[in-house]
Amino acid sequence: MSWSEPEFGAIAGLLTAEFGVAFPPARRVFAEAAIRRALGLAREHSLASYRERLAAEPALLRALIAEVTIGETYFFRDAAQFEAIRTIVLPDIVQRRSGDARLRIWSAGCSTGEEAYSLMMLLHDCGFSQRTMLFATDVSSTSIEVARRGQYGAWSFRRDVADWRERCFVRTGKRWTIAPEHRRIAFMVHNLMQPAPAGIVAGGGFDLIVCRNVLLYFDRKTVERAAHLLVDALAPGGWLLMSPTDPPLPNELGLESVLTPAGIIFRRPAETVVVAQPLPPRAEPVAVPRQARDDIGSHHDMGAAHHDIGARGDVHAVRRAGSRVRVDAEAYVERALGFLDASQPHQAAASARRALFLDRSLAVAHLTLARALRLTGSRSAAQRALRRGAALLEAHAPDDAVRGAGGASAGTLSAVAAAEFELLVGAPS
Ligand SMILES: C[S@@+](CC[C@H](N)C(=O)[O-])C[C@H]1O[C@@H](n2cnc3c(N)ncnc32)[C@H](O)[C@@H]1O
Repeated sequence: MSWSEPEFGAIAGLLTAEFGVAFPPARRVFAEAAIRRALGLAREHSLASYRERLAAEPALLRALIAEVTIGETYFFRDAAQFEAIRTIVLPDIVQRRSGDARLRIWSAGCSTGEEAYSLMMLLHDCGFSQRTMLFATDVSSTSIEVARRGQYGAWSFRRDVADWRERCFVRTGKRWTIAPEHRRIAFMVHNLMQPAPAGIVAGGGFDLIVCRNVLLYFDRKTVERAAHLLVDALAPGGWLLMSPTDPPLPNELGLESVLTPAGIIFRRPAETVVVAQPLPPRAEPVAVPRQARDDIGSHHDMGAAHHDIGARGDVHAVRRAGSRVRVDAEAYVERALGFLDASQPHQAAASARRALFLDRSLAVAHLTLARALRLTGSRSAAQRALRRGAALLEAHAPDDAVRGAGGASAGTLSAVAAAEFELLVGAPS
């Protein structure tokens, strides 16, 4: 889909240049809605004058990126990765950082802080929280403010983490505030296009950088730049943990790929790598083919309910799981959007179908499936999916926020559906 007005493209170009965030066709309708919201907040009426101000006012550009980026996150997202940190990464770091040396961890692209607090709770459980320096950064100052407040609603606990919630939070009505002993985190605004601030890399670099579900919003060139900067910030022997659906890293980073039950985790070799030497095998094609990566991600990323899905015999258990099921369906939609951005429509369609298997009332899943099917050439199936999605949207008022659509309203999504219909009509049979 092209931009509905060229000014949107020009504004998006400013964001790409400054923050690396890419705007493939699948994301443009959402981006336009976000730009319009930010334009209203800036009390501007014309896109052209707003763009001129954006080019001159860095604070305004930062406010816009906070609207545009998708801060989807929750506590202990991808349980298997946290287990790998507990059983593989932390023991390795502690062994290398002997004595009282501090452990240094960075949650890069932490959104509203759930990932960083999950790490801190885990560290506390393992007895390492007092000797760890945990930094958490995001480009969105709004998200960082939320993270610093440390107060969350039920949505942030959508994975079944009641035990952590009872132990590590103080409840006030319908919200939970992180307990003081888990607040030892330095939250900062930081753009991953820039080198990590000197203050935070001082001390020899990080033992662990967790940068999950961030690079998938970047174009290839930007992924490379961000990946180099992250690796530069790693201590020798330090670990880099990404999400199974993040884009593959460039070969020349010289990272080791360690295959764990949670998928691949990268590690900077403890000794200096001589660039002319043969590099370690690339993680993705050698160890885990992309389809399998999708499966690993599907099973690991969403916690218990996903294991249920994997075991087909447990379908009834999945259906009975109530709100948890609905939540996971949304996560599958997000995954599908990631595949669309990566030009992998078949995988996107599979993820959207998984979402619908769990929750047929999720309008955004039908729309995502429609787009994926159109891109695979399945035109009539795409039309059917689109009709179902459009019918579900009709039940909403235009201003209603639609579940699983990152805050987009029913009106916005109806426009998406209309645009998709146009593309389908124009698509070859
Ligand atoms: C989907 S959230 C991921 C949150 C968390 N890491 C997780 O996996 O649950 C992506 C985050 O990346 C942030 N982001 C996007 N571009 C960025 C950039 N250039 N620098 C730093 N953060 C960025 C967004 O603001 C958003 O909060």
